[in-house]
Amino acid sequence: MLELKNIHKTFNPGTINEKVALNGVDLKVEEGDFITVIGGNGAGKSTMLNAVAGVWPVDEGSIEIDGNDVTGLPDYKRANLIGRVFQDPMTGTAATMEIEENLALAYRRGKKRTLRWGITHKEKQLFREKLEILQLGLEDRMTAKVGLLSGGQRQALTLLMATLVKPKILLLDEHTAALDPKTAEKVLTATEKVVQKDNLTTLMITHNMKDAITHGNRLIMMNEGRVILDIKGEEKKNLTVEDLLHQFSVTSGEEFASDKALLG
Ligand SMILES: Nc1ncnc2c1ncn2[C@@H]1O[C@H](COP(=O)(O)OP(=O)(O)OP(=O)(O)O)[C@@H](O)[C@H]1O
Ligand SMILES: [Mg+2]
Repeated sequence: MLELKNIHKTFNPGTINEKVALNGVDLKVEEGDFITVIGGNGAGKSTMLNAVAGVWPVDEGSIEIDGNDVTGLPDYKRANLIGRVFQDPMTGTAATMEIEENLALAYRRGKKRTLRWGITHKEKQLFREKLEILQLGLEDRMTAKVGLLSGGQRQALTLLMATLVKPKILLLDEHTAALDPKTAEKVLTATEKVVQKDNLTTLMITHNMKDAITHGNRLIMMNEGRVILDIKGEEKKNLTVEDLLHQFSVTSGEEFASDKALLG
């Protein structure tokens, strides 16, 4: 479903701010894979997701989504293949619009984006069913303005919007990191349901090693712009946080540097 081959990306090349962010990333993602992505600060996790989304051109390597080479495509030309949710609950939804209006805009993605004809009964029915999956009671508040929702509710709604038209790949960049632990747990549960229901191919960055172990069928660890661990199947099920910390220091020769991961 997604294949990254030898991806390199250096920011500000030739200046004192030069930074090699991706240094030969190889990753083959199968259809239906739910991959959690961990790694220390600055390891290149967000940069890898940005490369997939086409935020800027990569320096070297190729990116295929669902058999199509998208390496040279700008972000807006691959946006219809990708769903994204970021850390900030304030982005991704329109605060002054109603829940159902936000969903309608997302649903008409790729089509003419207008609400001039209103939202049809059939659409409302679909939105209600989708909102029920989240189990946050939003299906009974479909005409509430999104600005009235909590951060967690907004993140869950953003997730729904990103997946309402099934994307080839769903990219989640620490989408629960700005939420309190209880709310984060709820949004993660909702994420799990949405991903399972549509068998979405997903890459989820998290700072929380426990979450990375609990969720998904596969876990990768990044360090210094490369994938240094790729664990799946039974091996993943039996992982512990201690294993991961140990594997990290063995593979990278360093201590895992992320307080959030250790405290999480
Ligand atoms: N647009 C940019 N311009 C310059 N440098 C960048 C840019 N984006 C990322 N970098 C640098 O590339 C490196 C990798 O950053 P990236 O954001 O991918 O790390 P990360 O693994 O997501 O870390 P974190 O856990 O802190 O989010 C870092 O050194 C970062 O400062
Ligand atoms: Mg990041």
